Amino acid sequence: MGESPHAVATLPTARQPGCPFDPPAELTDARRHGPISRYTFPGGKPGWLITGFDLVRSVLADPRFSSRKELMRHHPTIDYGDIEVPPAPPGEFLLMDEPLHSRYRKPLMGKFTVRRMRLLTERVEQITAGHLDAMEKAGPPADLVTAFAKPIPAIMICELLGVPYEDRGSFQEQVEMFMNGETSDEDLIAAYTATQDYLAELVAAKRANPTDDVLSDLTDTDLTDEELKGIALILLAAGLDTTANMLALGTFALLRNPEQPAALRADPALADAAVEELLRYLSVAKTFMRTALEDAEVGGQIIEAGSPVILSFNTANRDPERFADPHVLDLRRQNGGHLAFGHGVHQCLGQQLARVEMRVAFPALFGRFPTLRLAVPPEAVALRPETADVHGVKSLPVTWDA
Ligand code: HEM
Repeated sequence: MGESPHAVATLPTARQPGCPFDPPAELTDARRHGPISRYTFPGGKPGWLITGFDLVRSVLADPRFSSRKELMRHHPTIDYGDIEVPPAPPGEFLLMDEPLHSRYRKPLMGKFTVRRMRLLTERVEQITAGHLDAMEKAGPPADLVTAFAKPIPAIMICELLGVPYEDRGSFQEQVEMFMNGETSDEDLIAAYTATQDYLAELVAAKRANPTDDVLSDLTDTDLTDEELKGIALILLAAGLDTTANMLALGTFALLRNPEQPAALRADPALADAAVEELLRYLSVAKTFMRTALEDAEVGGQIIEAGSPVILSFNTANRDPERFADPHVLDLRRQNGGHLAFGHGVHQCLGQQLARVEMRVAFPALFGRFPTLRLAVPPEAVALRPETADVHGVKSLPVTWDA
């Protein structure tokens, strides 16, 4: 077997000052020591931290590593003591293994294909143009998060699921509370319960009066109302916050590298590559967990059955063995095969939707406001804490020449 592995004592809770887009330095250091490190979880449970591209990818494709919620009893940075974790509720397939995972994912696959999502391009263009018009009309400055980054993915996922537009606001706030890493346990439970109640009503309404949307389509399968509610929750939770953070943090990154949006303006054909590079560079969905179901050799180490494993997507996407000059944002990079959407059976179901949204939104924003710039010094842009599931900015004050 391999040499004794590097050990990481605690996971960082902040990014380096002045480096809002780079993974925390301690994680990058861990990867420099090798792609797999020992990690002791708070409370003392021994586990592993995988930071290298090839190993993260291989664990994601390996059925010996489980996504089941009830096995994930150890939080990477918080000691919850010795608690029993219940299995994921029906329908919440992100935290399930086969064959249950496929029961939920299969009926959805045809709804999120490249072809179907490309058909939505025109609708994304309309929504984007509407929000840019509103920004222009109100005049500078604006908070790009509320004026642009949040509403576009929210409207799209609501339309796909068949959530009435007027109901969107309240549960967007609730879903964000699950993800922002700053919500108290009490508020978290309240937000989760309110969302559950809302979705239960929505599912009942779709069953009674099906409309032309994904949720109504699913009422035509053998899935129960409870299962449909879980599926809707996963789609909302995964679809609202991730793309919104990509749009806001991506704009911040482009404004900090002004030659990059200039290149995009000069060559619109760059848009697809630009989206892939921003996905790689930012890796907003930064870490996911797995649990070893049996002893498994990974990178010359034996991961013991029952061990919790942290997969660091953001260091994997900055791995110099996979990407030349990984810390440089280069929209011309042909980076094919980053891990920002994961890999294997749980690979992001909504990736084509997210791509269409970003592919339209970034060029439209920088095309409409060629003088777009930060309205505050870059250090004053507040980042989400590292405990948030999805990396991003809390707000992004921008201005432009009206
Ligand atoms: C840029 C935006 C997005 C990013 C970076 C992202 C990232 C990811 C990642 C990394 C996973 C894999 C998790 C794992 O392996 O445990 C995932 C799964 C998932 N994503 Fe996304 N996502 C994005 C947008 C979306 C959108 C718009 C939707 C909804 C329509 C969506 C729906 C899902 C679902 C349902 C899963 C679970 C798939 C499964 O377990 O089979 N995502 N996403």
